[in-house]
Amino acid sequence: MTAGNPYVDYARMDALHALPAPATESPFELQFILLSQVKELLFRMVHLEVDQARARLREDRPEAACRALSRAVRHQRTLIGCWESMNAMPVDEFLAFRDELGEASGTQSYMYRLLEFTLGNRGAAMVRHSDFTRFPQLRAELERPSLYDEVLRHLYRTGLPTPEHVVTRDVTVPYEPDKGVEDVWATVYRNPDKYRPAYDLAEQLLEVAYQFSRWRATHLLVVERMLGGKRGSGGTDGASWLRKINEHRFFAELWTMRSAL
Ligand code: HEM
Repeated sequence: MTAGNPYVDYARMDALHALPAPATESPFELQFILLSQVKELLFRMVHLEVDQARARLREDRPEAACRALSRAVRHQRTLIGCWESMNAMPVDEFLAFRDELGEASGTQSYMYRLLEFTLGNRGAAMVRHSDFTRFPQLRAELERPSLYDEVLRHLYRTGLPTPEHVVTRDVTVPYEPDKGVEDVWATVYRNPDKYRPAYDLAEQLLEVAYQFSRWRATHLLVVERMLGGKRGSGGTDGASWLRKINEHRFFAELWTMRSAL
């Protein structure tokens, strides 16, 4: 037998278990931190696949992009399942350690923002200025075309009439939904056999967007359960602020074009 503990040494399990540092003796606080860390790692898993999908689209390989997106969807489902464990915590147990959070809030998760930026919901205003310095990957991501930018560039290269101002846009600024793009998706959905790869890609993108919105909606329910109408630790008015965020949809035209079908 090998000396030491290869399992612990390979994946640095000792370092992992040493990470959580709850401020109280509450086992609920430890679980809250563990779940937050699990979710951070899953954001990263989703990000890895979305980044793969984007790379495949740059190579005009939509089938390979679809496979990466379907893996992302599996991780997203796991992420949503994590809310089940969070709901195991009774509200009084949460309130017993909530003050320890201070101003800490999920709004400050740079991995979540990196994922949003990569998918296509982006803008410098979504991140604190100091985070751009501390996490340089955020700035680097803002300067690259998002997954959705690469989707639209790929459609353009296949000959679909994607508007030129969309494929040459300044990728650092928020994307504005476009009527011409909506028309392109409607064309694809009216002729699925003719545009099969684009149609399959659209279906996978919609699934990613759908699961993202489900994550947000479930988070909102958890927040109502834990906070009712109280303010968030990040300084927002809590559930009502999150309700607004819940209106956002990734790949907006894939949703709006349904009215035209
Ligand atoms: C008891 C559990 C939780 C409560 C009560 C809660 C509450 C809130 C509230 C009130 C906000 C709005 C911003 C603010 O003022 O803080 C928020 C935002 C957010 N939370 Fe949570 N949260 C919980 C668990 C989590 C977990 C485990 C994660 C994942 C690690 C998470 C990720 C986020 C993210 C990413 C946002 C920003 C959403 C956006 O900007 O789109 N939350 N949370």
